[in-house]
Amino acid sequence: MSGPLAGKRVLVTAGGTREPLDAVRYIGNRSSGRMGVALAAEARRRGADVTLIASNLGVAPPDDVEVVQAPTAADVETEASARSDADVVLMAAAVSDYRPAETEAAKRPKDEKAWKIELEPTTDVLKTLGERRRNGQVLVGFAAETGDGGLERARDKLAAKQVDLIVYNDVSREDVGFDTEENEVVIVSAQGERRVAKAPKAEIAAAILDEVEDRI
Ligand code: CTP
Repeated sequence: MSGPLAGKRVLVTAGGTREPLDAVRYIGNRSSGRMGVALAAEARRRGADVTLIASNLGVAPPDDVEVVQAPTAADVETEASARSDADVVLMAAAVSDYRPAETEAAKRPKDEKAWKIELEPTTDVLKTLGERRRNGQVLVGFAAETGDGGLERARDKLAAKQVDLIVYNDVSREDVGFDTEENEVVIVSAQGERRVAKAPKAEIAAAILDEVEDRI
């Protein structure tokens, strides 16, 4: 396939992880996977070989990309680590920061007492990739923030996770972000910031990949 990303291997994570409490219950989030799926489709359109690590997608993956199922944060860690030599990594998935310390194999029966759940931290996959990254790899993280100071926290993540770009979006808004068709983001890099006005996620994906191409 021809295009500006021909011959490049692009790894995209999409969706939201689900951390099991028992055989049927889980701790999850509202991510649909639309932003990651849009990135995978756009990277493919530009000629890349694309692998999509899919966490419980609410939308269909694009044609012509390799899809690897990764329902939990531990699965994302395993599958992303196995492909950490990709030319470009786009971590759009909402990976849970915590998982239940214990998972019951059967469905937990109801009783009259409170169910106290202890949560333990998961591995920060993006941070691990940032620490290990090879020369020339372009690494992109997302910062789903709520409320005041969100952009500031996104800037901090750029350094903390050693990535090239952080895509900031405010997920407290109803019209953009989680489980919506559109997004409005700020692409943060060491060189500066680019605001991308509210647009369908396909257009946001194109803006992000323009920034990636500038860094390849
Ligand atoms: N991420 C990851 N592994 C995790 C959690 C998050 O790789 N266990 C990635 C996400 O895919 C995203 C980026 O890290 O690209 C930012 O995630 P976010 O949860 O916003 O950042 P945190 O560093 O977890 O900070 P906080 O939740 O405190 O805001």
